[in-house]
Amino acid sequence: MEAHEIHKAFIDIYGQPDLLVRSPARINLIGEHTDYNGGFVLPAAINKETYFAISGNGTRTCNVYSKHFDETVTFELDDIKPSDKSWANYLIGAVDQVQKNGYKVHGFNIVFGGNIPIGAGLSSSASVECGLIFSINELFSLGIEPVEIIKMGQKAENEFVGVQCGIMDQFINVMGKKDHALRLDCRSLEYYYFPLKLNNYCIILCNSLVSHSLATSAYNTRKEECLRGVEIIKAHYPEVESLRDVKLPMLQHLLPELGENVFNRCKFVIEENLRVLESCDQLQKGDVAGFGRNLYDSHYGLALTYKVSCPELDFLIGFTINKPQVVGARMMGGGFGGCTINIVENTYKDDFIQAISDAYQQRFEIMPEIYEVAPAEGTSEAAVSECVNTKSSL
Ligand code: GLA
Repeated sequence: MEAHEIHKAFIDIYGQPDLLVRSPARINLIGEHTDYNGGFVLPAAINKETYFAISGNGTRTCNVYSKHFDETVTFELDDIKPSDKSWANYLIGAVDQVQKNGYKVHGFNIVFGGNIPIGAGLSSSASVECGLIFSINELFSLGIEPVEIIKMGQKAENEFVGVQCGIMDQFINVMGKKDHALRLDCRSLEYYYFPLKLNNYCIILCNSLVSHSLATSAYNTRKEECLRGVEIIKAHYPEVESLRDVKLPMLQHLLPELGENVFNRCKFVIEENLRVLESCDQLQKGDVAGFGRNLYDSHYGLALTYKVSCPELDFLIGFTINKPQVVGARMMGGGFGGCTINIVENTYKDDFIQAISDAYQQRFEIMPEIYEVAPAEGTSEAAVSECVNTKSSL
C-alpha cells in the first residue's frame, strides 16, 4: 500500500487531510538483543514505510482507520483503554504516553497503512507508534522533542503492547538518515552516523514468513535472563550496572552460579557488543569481508547461544554459506521468525533471489518474500506530490 492510497482513503472518508506523514521500517546491521542491555546497535531506517493522513476534528474523540485491516477504531481522549483490536493498541498506547507526559492532545481523524510487512522483524510497530506521535506533535504544535518521541514510543510498546523492548527501533525510526547507518550507544544515547557505502554489494532481506509475535515469544524471557545474570555478577563486581560493563573473563568463573542458560545469554550479549564496535571499524575501512564474517558470527551466536532463531531462519542462512557472492548474512531483529539480512554482490543479486526462493520453497513449501532495501530518512512530513498516483496517469 502506497502513500497515494492512504491519501485517497482519507479524502474519501473525511476530505483533505491537514497533514501527511511517512514513518520508516528499519534494518539492524548488527547488535541484536544488546539495546536492553545498555549496549551498542547499528541500525538504519529503510525505504519501507507506514503513511498517515490526519486532521484535527475539534472534539475529544479519535477515529482511526487501518487501511490494511479495513477496520475503524474510535476512542475517547478522556477515557483511554486498550482496544480488543490489537493493531489499534500501538496508536492508543502512543496517544496515552503523549497525554501522560502532560501534552494537550485534541481529537483527530486518521487513516494509516503502508508497505512494511507485519511480524517480519522490520519494526512496523515502532513505525506506527513514533509516526503517530510525530503526526500529533506536528498537527497540534505540541513541541515534543525527538528524544521524547522515541522514549514515548518505546513506553507505549512496553506498557500497552506488553513487549519489554529496548530503544533501538524507536530511535532509528525517528533519527534515521538517508544513505547512513547509525551507531547508537543505548546507555548514553550518544550516536554517530556511518555512511553506508557497500560499494559492489546490496542489502537483501529474505522474509521467512514465519510471523513472530514478540509479546508471546521468549523475548521477555531473554530480557529477564539477562537481568538475572547482571544481579549475580553485580554481587561480585558492584561496579556492574548492565552487561555492557561485563568482560568475558569476569563471566567465566561465575558459570556454576549463573547456570548454563544465563551464562550463555550473557556471553552472547558481551560478544555481540564487541562485534558492533569491530563492525563499525570494518565499515569505516571498507572491509566488507570482515564485516560479513561478523554477521555470520552474530547469527550463530543468536541461534546457538542466545537461542532466538528458528529452523526457517537457520535454513536461509545455511543456504548462503560457501557462496562467495554473499559476504555475510544473519537473522535480524527479535528473532523467532521474520527476516534475514544478506549482503550480496550486486551482480549476483538476481540469481541469488531466484536460488534462495527456490530452495526455501522446496524445503518449506512457502515462497519467501525478498526485499532489496536502502537506508532512508527517519519519520518526516510527506509531500502531497508523493501521494499522487503517477502510475494511473499513464
Ligand atoms: C526487537 C526490539 C528491539 C531489540 C530487538 C533485538 O526489535 O523491539 O528493542 O531488542 O528486538 O535486537
